[in-house]
Amino acid sequence: MAIITNIEDLRVLAQKRVPRIFYDYVDSGSWSESTYRANRDDFAGIQLRQRVGINVANRSLQTQMVGQDVTMPVALAPVGLTGMVHADGEILAAKAAEQFGVPFTLSTMSICAIEDIAARTTKPFWFQLYIMKDRDFTSRLIARAEAAGCSALVVTLDLPMMGQRNKDLKNGLSVPIKLSLRNLLNVAHKTRWWTGMLGTKRHSFGNIVGHVPEVSDTASLLQWTAQQLDQSVSWNDIRWIRQRWHGKLIVKGILDAEDARLATRHGVDAIVVSNHGGRQLDGAPSSIAALPGIVQAVGHEMEIHLDSGIRSGQDVLKALALGAKGVYIGRAFIYGLGAMGEAGVSRSLEIIHKELEITMSLCGITDVKQVDQSVLFKAPQTYSK
Ligand SMILES: Cc1cc2nc3c(=O)[nH]c(=O)nc-3n(C[C@H](O)[C@H](O)[C@H](O)COP(=O)(O)O)c2cc1C
Repeated sequence: MAIITNIEDLRVLAQKRVPRIFYDYVDSGSWSESTYRANRDDFAGIQLRQRVGINVANRSLQTQMVGQDVTMPVALAPVGLTGMVHADGEILAAKAAEQFGVPFTLSTMSICAIEDIAARTTKPFWFQLYIMKDRDFTSRLIARAEAAGCSALVVTLDLPMMGQRNKDLKNGLSVPIKLSLRNLLNVAHKTRWWTGMLGTKRHSFGNIVGHVPEVSDTASLLQWTAQQLDQSVSWNDIRWIRQRWHGKLIVKGILDAEDARLATRHGVDAIVVSNHGGRQLDGAPSSIAALPGIVQAVGHEMEIHLDSGIRSGQDVLKALALGAKGVYIGRAFIYGLGAMGEAGVSRSLEIIHKELEITMSLCGITDVKQVDQSVLFKAPQTYSK
């Protein structure tokens, strides 16, 4: 096996090992994928300011996200169906994150259940909530996250309707699943993947199965889930959640300064500037392009996180420079998981940590908490709209 030196190496290996239907599910954006590409291109367009003659012998990457100590300002983003990329994927990723000292966020649409993660980890993790039409079920999910000791609830607002990802439709990843012969044959070739899958009983949406009376088999489960996306979700629901949830509350999917201002009026502890990794509104700006305007609008009032497009420590530094307190990685850790399971998630974190540490040093920075726009070659206005 080739030596893994960066996230791209993990992606290439994941592509070899994960069945096409699930690899494509991860590595795609909506419609023309223009926003998905912009997320990467806009990071690449930001230049860092090289400094020399500064003592960088003692370095610290430790900081806090929503008051929680982290060994670097990077959390694992909620990723639905993680347990289909690798058997027991959410458990493995949560263990790797815990070991590394960064937050893991479990998706509502995970394969392993909230209780599964709680049983296999020792520190609090975060739970991502999709507000479902069935508010009783949503309420129970919040209570389950609380009972499992989750320290933050990440409510995703950018999915009132699902963005169309063309590859998923072509691959038959729809409701109900329609696997083509070509995809079945492809699965047969991914021996590591399916032997792992044969060794686990977790093959379905773990947070839903057994918690909704009308759902009995896979078909009814998929049907129920597809119907549960609620297009009527509004800030009133955030108010409703704030009354039920006593831990930190993070709202994910903010891309506009006006929405960020609204978040400040709803008892939210942090927002995630995010376009869902380019999977929702195709044509929206990259998250990193949207960040400066949002920081300008609400940066003095609340903590701001960012995701979408982070593939390296350099990207993390750029996001911090433009005002994010921390970032989340989605695909970067999922590639690691698909490539090498838990060890691959750890590897993705190590890669990003090392890149961040070296990049900070070459910019003359020793403490991640002191990163500001002065590490950029050009002023941040250049990057905002
Ligand atoms: C395969 C996949 C599934 C995702 N599922 C969810 C989800 O269930 N809930 C959610 O809030 N975000 C979800 N996201 C979005 C991520 O949380 C995050 O915003 C995105 O991956 C960040 O972009 P990046 O992958 O470029 O790092 C998903 C992203 C991917 C790639």
